[in-house]
Amino acid sequence: MNVFDCIRQRRSIRAYQDRPVPEAALQRILEAVNAAPSAGNLQAYEIFLVRDAGRRRALSEASFGQEYVAQAPVVLVFCTNAARSAVKYGQRGERLYCLQDATIACAYAQLAAVALGLGTVWVGAFDDDAVIRALDLPGSLHPVAILPIGYPAESPEPRPRRALEDLAHELA
Ligand SMILES: Cc1cc2nc3c(=O)[nH]c(=O)nc-3n(C[C@H](O)[C@H](O)[C@H](O)COP(=O)(O)O)c2cc1C
Repeated sequence: MNVFDCIRQRRSIRAYQDRPVPEAALQRILEAVNAAPSAGNLQAYEIFLVRDAGRRRALSEASFGQEYVAQAPVVLVFCTNAARSAVKYGQRGERLYCLQDATIACAYAQLAAVALGLGTVWVGAFDDDAVIRALDLPGSLHPVAILPIGYPAESPEPRPRRALEDLAHELA
């Protein structure tokens, strides 16, 4: 599957089969993430891989009861590591680059998952402190995206998008 097929086929998947994600598939997703660009190549983020059912349940509750977070067999949690970027870029690294690094990484994981026949949904609605507690995160890390991963149990239609003329602006 080429990258355009992955982009075209990706949907937010909110129902998963009761089937484990093979270790090799997870590995390939993480390798794709690791190839993502980052400011100064600092990769100012950490990823937590959650398979434990109790922690998935805690993440689901932290996400205001979004059930698919508990249902998916694997959940990745992307956290910024601001200090890692601040070493080189100061406040810009702390406020902006680490966030961009972590979110690009999550986008790569979403596309890699599609190529492997897996589904994901980017979960951004959560109580930060509850996620920090669920994962026992150190104070230096901040969660920015939760990504449940599993084999899809639904095939949603594509969601509408803005017209390109509305979105992309050519300047004279
Ligand atoms: C920053 C961000 C936060 C999101 N938060 C949630 C969320 O908390 N729960 C959810 O079900 N979907 C969430 N989504 C998924 C969007 O609803 C979804 O991408 C959008 O409706 C377009 O649908 P599609 O992904 O199927 O193309 C989020 C997506 C992004 C990029």
